[in-house]
Amino acid sequence: MSVTQVPAVEAFYHALTGAYAYLAYDPRTREGVIIDPVLDFDRRSGVVETVAAEQMLARIRELQLQIPMILETHAHADHLSAAAYMKDALGCQVATGAGVCQVQITAAHMFDLEPGFATDGSQFERLWNAGECFRVSAIACSVVATPGHTPDSVTYLIGDCAFVGDTLFLPYLGTARCDFPGASAADLYDSIRKLYRLPDATRVMVGHDYPQASGDAAYCSDLSSEKQANTHLSAATKREDFIAFREDRDRTLPLPELFFFALQVNVRAGRFPAEAANGTRQLHVPLHLPEQWPG
Ligand SMILES: [Fe+2]
Repeated sequence: MSVTQVPAVEAFYHALTGAYAYLAYDPRTREGVIIDPVLDFDRRSGVVETVAAEQMLARIRELQLQIPMILETHAHADHLSAAAYMKDALGCQVATGAGVCQVQITAAHMFDLEPGFATDGSQFERLWNAGECFRVSAIACSVVATPGHTPDSVTYLIGDCAFVGDTLFLPYLGTARCDFPGASAADLYDSIRKLYRLPDATRVMVGHDYPQASGDAAYCSDLSSEKQANTHLSAATKREDFIAFREDRDRTLPLPELFFFALQVNVRAGRFPAEAANGTRQLHVPLHLPEQWPG
C-alpha cells in the first residue's frame, strides 16, 4: 500500500486579527486536523461570534472530512481560539504543547484566576511533548518544540508541511515578537535553526500575514526561501545579532489589542470563565496604576 505523504491544506484568513487557521487532511481518506481556529471577538462590545469557525465547519461538511483532533500551536495572545466551540461541534479532541502549563501558571497569577483553575494542561485532551509522533490517516506527523515567541510554541510537521504558528513568518515579515512572559529571543533563534535543518522543500504554513491595503494575504513559504530571504533570521544571521535586533524591536511594540482577553480564554483551551454572580461571563484587564495611587 502506498503511503500518502502530502496533505491537502486549506488556509482560512481572519482579517481582523491577521491570523491563519488551517485544515490539513489526507485527500484519500478525508481524515484531517484543524490547526489554530479563530473565534470572532469585539473587545469594545464584548460580542463573541463564530463566523470564522462556522466557515471552517461548513467547509469540513462540504469536503466530508473526519476531524479527530484540533491542534493549537501555542497559547495565542492576539486572537481567541475557537477550539472549544469547534470541539463541541465536531466531537473531537484539542491538543497543544505541554509547555502550555507554564503559560497557565503565568496567566493564573496575572489574572488572579479562580483557585480551582488547573495549571496542569488538563483543559486539553492531549499535551504533546517534544518529538512525539502521530498520524493523520496515512500521513506521518511529528511535534517539534519551538519555544521563543512563547514558551509553549510547537511546530507540527504533517507530511511535507510545517505548521509553525508564530515561530516563522513569511520571509518579508521575518519573525514574531519575543517579549511575552516566558518568551525568549535566544530560544526563538535556536528553534528556527532547528527548523532550518529540515528539508529545504518543506512547506512552511505561517500563523499570520499582515498585507498592505492593496495586497492579498499569503500563508505559505518554504524552508529554502526562509533560509535565503527571511528578513530577520536567514541562514547567515548570527545568534547575537538576532537577539539584539529582536529585543530592540520588541521594546517598541505595544501589546496586541486582544492580549489580556486572548490569554484568559486560550489557557482554558478556548473556553470562557464560568458565569459571574450576575449571570454574565467576564474577562479581566489587570491595571497598572501609578506608584502613589490614592487608595
Ligand atoms: Fe502568537
